[in-house]
Amino acid sequence: MKGLKGKVGIVAGGGRGIGAATARRLAAEGAHVVIGDLQGDWAREVAEDIRSTGGIATGIDLDGTSAESQAAIVACAVETYGGLDFYHSNLAGGTNGDVDILDCPVEVLDASFAINTKSHFLASQAALPKIIERGGGAMIYTSSGAAAGGAAWQVAYPMTKNAIHALARHVASRFGKQGVRANVICPGLVLTEAVKQYLTDEYVERGLKGIPHTRLGQPEDIAAAVTFLASDDGAWVNGQVWHVNGGAQMRD
Ligand SMILES: NC(=O)c1ccc[n+]([C@@H]2O[C@H](COP(=O)([O-])OP(=O)(O)OC[C@H]3O[C@@H](n4cnc5c(N)ncnc54)[C@H](O)[C@@H]3O)[C@@H](O)[C@H]2O)c1
Repeated sequence: MKGLKGKVGIVAGGGRGIGAATARRLAAEGAHVVIGDLQGDWAREVAEDIRSTGGIATGIDLDGTSAESQAAIVACAVETYGGLDFYHSNLAGGTNGDVDILDCPVEVLDASFAINTKSHFLASQAALPKIIERGGGAMIYTSSGAAAGGAAWQVAYPMTKNAIHALARHVASRFGKQGVRANVICPGLVLTEAVKQYLTDEYVERGLKGIPHTRLGQPEDIAAAVTFLASDDGAWVNGQVWHVNGGAQMRD
C-alpha cells in the first residue's frame, strides 16, 4: 500500500489478535510501529517477532484507560521514531458480567465504558496534537458489528463501542481541514485467541452458516482494512464506519 514506508504508528491493544496482526502488516508495509498492551510482555514479543523478520517495532506497557499511559506511548513513538502519523486504537475488554439490561450490574457498564470508550477518547487526546504537528495523519478505531447489529445477550459492550463511532465523526469533522482522517472498523466474527476460547465447534459452524462467505474472519482480514486506512491509499476516506465481516451485516 502507498505511503507507509517510514511512517510512524501506534497499535494499542496490539499484544495479540487483531492488533498483533495489524502491527505485523503495518511493519511489513514499512511503517515503524509502537505496540502497546496491558500485557506488556505480549506487546514486546510481537515487536521482537517483527524485528526478527526485518521490520521496525517497539513493544511497551500500556493501560489505555490512563491518560498518563496514553501520553507515555505517544512520547515513546515521538522519541523513538521522530513523530506520529497514525494511531490504531484497538483495545477492548470489560465484558465479564455483561448481560441483558435487566441483569447487567452498573459496575459492568462502568468498566466497559472505561475500556471501550474512555480509552479511545484518551488515545485521541494524546495522539492528535502530534499527528497535527506532522501535517496530518490517521486515527483508526476498532469497534464491533455488535455496536450496530443489535445484541440481545449483552448491553454494555455494544453501547460503549457505539460511542466510538461518534468520537470518530467528531475527530473527522473537527480536524479534517488539518489533514486528519478518523475512521472506524467494525469487525464481524474474527477467529482470534480471545474469541476462540469461548467458541464451540457448533457455534463456529452456525456462524459460518449465517454469513454469505466461504469462511469466518481472520485477524489478517481486519489488519488489511486498518492498514489501508492508515496508508495514502485511504487518503479520501474520512469519518466512515466500515463493517468488515464477510457480509454478515450488510449496511449503507
Ligand atoms: N475477534 C472478534 O470476533 C471481534 C469482533 C468484533 C470486534 N472486535 C474488536 O476487535 C478488537 C480486537 O479484538 P481481539 O479479538 O483481537 O481481542 P483481544 O482480546 O485478543 O485483543 C485485545 C487486546 O487489548 C488488550 N487490552 C485490554 N484492555 C487493555 C487496556 N486497558 N490497555 C491496553 N491494552 C488492553 C488485551 O490485553 C489484548 O491484547 C477489540 O476492540 C474487539 O472488541 C473483535
